[in-house]
Amino acid sequence: MNQKMLVLIGFIILCAAGTSIYFLLNKDSKSDSLTSNIEQEKKHNESEKDNVDSNEKTIVIYFSATGTTQKIAGYISELTNSNRIEIVPTEEYTDNDLNYNNSNSRANKEQNDRSSRPKIRNEIDIAEYDTIYLGYPIWWGDVPKIILTFVENNNLEGKKIIPFCTSHSSGMSTSLNTLKSYKELNIVDGRRFDSSSNKSDVESWLKGIK
Ligand SMILES: Cc1cc2nc3c(=O)[nH]c(=O)nc-3n(C[C@H](O)[C@H](O)[C@H](O)COP(=O)(O)O)c2cc1C
Repeated sequence: MNQKMLVLIGFIILCAAGTSIYFLLNKDSKSDSLTSNIEQEKKHNESEKDNVDSNEKTIVIYFSATGTTQKIAGYISELTNSNRIEIVPTEEYTDNDLNYNNSNSRANKEQNDRSSRPKIRNEIDIAEYDTIYLGYPIWWGDVPKIILTFVENNNLEGKKIIPFCTSHSSGMSTSLNTLKSYKELNIVDGRRFDSSSNKSDVESWLKGIK
């Protein structure tokens, strides 16, 4: 074999090796860029999801005559990091008004009157909220009539309403039925608490509905 032949064979081997290396490198970089695209999309979707979740605006709205429901409303507001607004009656309830042993007390008369809608003193702007935790004490097994004033005077359509209540011992099912009788509203099943309920009771409930 002469010298020219040796140079030619060497040249062919070099070309073959170069081509193989080029294809190998190119394949790796393509699969690398594919992987990084998938990673980026995954991250984007996750951050979109976070945005959607954080754009959901929640508020706690409640009526409380003696502070028990207010305490629970405070826990919900803290734990969900949302504002809370009290439904304040134009005419506040005195102890006599709340005496359920007297059939002539104001609260008892209101509960017995289907058309009673006690007036609300404060403006409650709920336009920007998607989810409303709606709190009340149980009065004679049902929602206090001022809750119906709130429901009927505000546009709650399209919002998710999560009721919560406090009572001595009664459950909340009658009050839920009353709220659900407003067919255009999205009322989900809520939760009853009592005066001994604490923050961790509220926390476990909230975890369960998320
Ligand atoms: C007029 C009136 C009626 C009530 N009716 C009931 C009832 O039917 N069942 C019950 O378990 N508790 C009843 N309660 C007790 C309240 O539901 C309970 O004390 C509640 O936690 C009070 O909440 P608040 O402090 O937020 O007003 C009634 C209280 C009042 C003032």
